[in-house]
Amino acid sequence: MKNLIPLFLAASISFAASALAQNSCIRETSNPKGWIMETKSSSYRLVIDGNGNVFPAFYGSRAEASATKRNDAWQQAIHEVPVRGAYPNKIPMLEVVFADNVRDIDLQYSGAEIIDKDGRQTLVIRQKDRYYPLQVTSYMRILPEYDIIEKWIEVTNTGATDKIYIENLQSGSIVLPRNAYQLTHLAGSWGNEFQVQRAALTPGIKTLEARDFKSFETPGWFLLRPEGQTDKFSGAGWFGMMQYSGNWRMDFGLRYGTGPQVVSGINFWDSAWHLGPGETFTSPKFIAGYTEGGDEGAAQSMSAYVRKEVLPKSHSGKLRPVLYNSWYATEFNVRAEHQLELAKVAREIGVELFVIDDGWFKGRNNSRAGLGDWTVDAKKFPDGLTPLIKQVNEWGMDFGIWIEPEMINPNSDLYREHPDWVFHFPNRTRRESRNQLMLNLAREDVYQYLLKCYSDLLATNNIKFIKWDHNRTLSEPGWPDAPVEKQKEVRIRYIANLYRLIDELRGRFPDVWFEDCSSGGGRPDLGMLTRMDQVWVSDNTKPKDRLYIQHGFLSAWPANTMVAWTTDWIQNTSLEFTFDVMMSGVLGVGNDLSKWGDKEKAVAKEKIGLYKAIRPLVQQGTAYRLVSPFEDFRAAVEYVSVDASEAVVFCYNLADDLAKNRLEGRGDLKLRLQGLDDGALYKIEFCGMAADKQPKETCTGKFLKEIGLRWTVLETGKSQIIRLKKQ
Ligand code: DGJ
Repeated sequence: MKNLIPLFLAASISFAASALAQNSCIRETSNPKGWIMETKSSSYRLVIDGNGNVFPAFYGSRAEASATKRNDAWQQAIHEVPVRGAYPNKIPMLEVVFADNVRDIDLQYSGAEIIDKDGRQTLVIRQKDRYYPLQVTSYMRILPEYDIIEKWIEVTNTGATDKIYIENLQSGSIVLPRNAYQLTHLAGSWGNEFQVQRAALTPGIKTLEARDFKSFETPGWFLLRPEGQTDKFSGAGWFGMMQYSGNWRMDFGLRYGTGPQVVSGINFWDSAWHLGPGETFTSPKFIAGYTEGGDEGAAQSMSAYVRKEVLPKSHSGKLRPVLYNSWYATEFNVRAEHQLELAKVAREIGVELFVIDDGWFKGRNNSRAGLGDWTVDAKKFPDGLTPLIKQVNEWGMDFGIWIEPEMINPNSDLYREHPDWVFHFPNRTRRESRNQLMLNLAREDVYQYLLKCYSDLLATNNIKFIKWDHNRTLSEPGWPDAPVEKQKEVRIRYIANLYRLIDELRGRFPDVWFEDCSSGGGRPDLGMLTRMDQVWVSDNTKPKDRLYIQHGFLSAWPANTMVAWTTDWIQNTSLEFTFDVMMSGVLGVGNDLSKWGDKEKAVAKEKIGLYKAIRPLVQQGTAYRLVSPFEDFRAAVEYVSVDASEAVVFCYNLADDLAKNRLEGRGDLKLRLQGLDDGALYKIEFCGMAADKQPKETCTGKFLKEIGLRWTVLETGKSQIIRLKKQ
């Protein structure tokens, strides 16, 4: 195992580590023996008892930790890496069967060190089974400024002859202090992604999971706050997310009168792994965090972490371009001349990237044919894509294109040639969804075919942006011609090859932007976001609905990944309102521009101009969701620059007529801001308001926080963008 220091050096290393610990976030302790890991707000304490058991003794606030040596986790005897074995009083991270059919594991501490892993201090603990050749190495990588700890494990078969059969292997477990908690998570469906859900965490096990490679039903993020703590901007909260696509799970276990245990990792439902002698299985990462900033503190930690640490480094610091996507204007009726007509208007209004969606490749006239045959349709583009791209580039825009690598239509040359390349079981129906089957990307031949198709496409055309779609859920996950042992490994192998494919393409074409899409926001996990620059959050572009979806998305994801297009679907509002909604993320335009007159073009031009001016704040500032549409008839989100010198606030009125008929809607009409410099004076500008109507006076950050701005958006379906600048 590279990066690990041999055992015989452990004594001198741990001395060196203690010296290093003076200024570090991981400290060794001697009484009790163990470690303390600290982030800005949290402390994580591990203890090794006299029998070589490693217990997580505390995870929570630093103040509480210093007064607590032994906490509930230890008393509950939930190990740092809980396994199936001994008493079933915990959710296990590891369940195996040894060659002689023994199914219990019994781990004992065997060594540890503090290493540097990609620039971060990381505690590495090794444990070995007391009898069988099984080693578990657990990692805790500390990111103090985000209040985040990344956890993952490596499981090694140290034997020489037998395989170990892994039935379940999770990435990490955390145990919270004993208390009553409220769980916040997200749920949804196609067109209604990221809806906020809250419920008391009651005894039993609550599971959030994906079983079909889609995360529509729940996108795999959680926040646990002590019951009764409701301030959005302050108070304790434990949050987390998996860095894995495909099937994942997250279990919240609570036994009456104890602290809850959260365990997360790959979902081994109908999966298994054979670990051969000398082999290691490395889990994906579980991201765990603790904040004292309430819901917004948790959202800010996660989104800053995703923006700065997770997104591909080549593009993470760049401003996302304003794009035009022609899907809603044309659907499958893609024609070169018409696309140019659209591009001409896109250029006029200030678009920077022109994207052709589905419908450009061979035989793709509807959803029933073409997927799999990734060459340009000669009927639609008789001269190929080159002249179109050249013109788009001459007009000052980059060019992008849609692909859906993992799917295939039975009506395609590829399927006629390779019907065995799809997931299927003998004697079972191959169920189609949106007329598609799913390619079995675990196969090397499928991987090589896709790599060649897209390498050719990107090498022969000046494409600077790929929208990577994934439109169906998994069914019949069979791989009949694989060796029997590999058959239940298929889902895990598929995801490994999916990552390999994207990584290889990004390596070969480092300038290209990648957008993550799965019928909208069906696959927004951090595994994809390690490889994708932004997310198509939902196919639902109705601006009012979008406010709910975007509010949920901002619980954990940064605004520079939240792609939103204006479309003709304005839901009894206006083009202005629609732009104001979509501008609070990565702005795109999706209207049928051939139907636009001068009026619409003027609105779009002005809004895109304003967006470009505030884009650094929106995409790189700190978000505060001031008013939630789930709680009020209004919504407001504020973005503040890192140095608090500037801010922009988006205000929306969803149903003022309703609000006045309800008690809670007749109250305070002030909007209190966050994140500003208390003592500084801010100049306030209401965008689009005549100069003589603008507020003359400046306000201090303290005034804006405690007294607030007057809420001026008094009509249903209206919006207002407000800019603040430090004087
Ligand atoms: C689903 C996506 O979410 C849409 O934006 C569009 O790309 C269609 N697929 C195309 O088939």
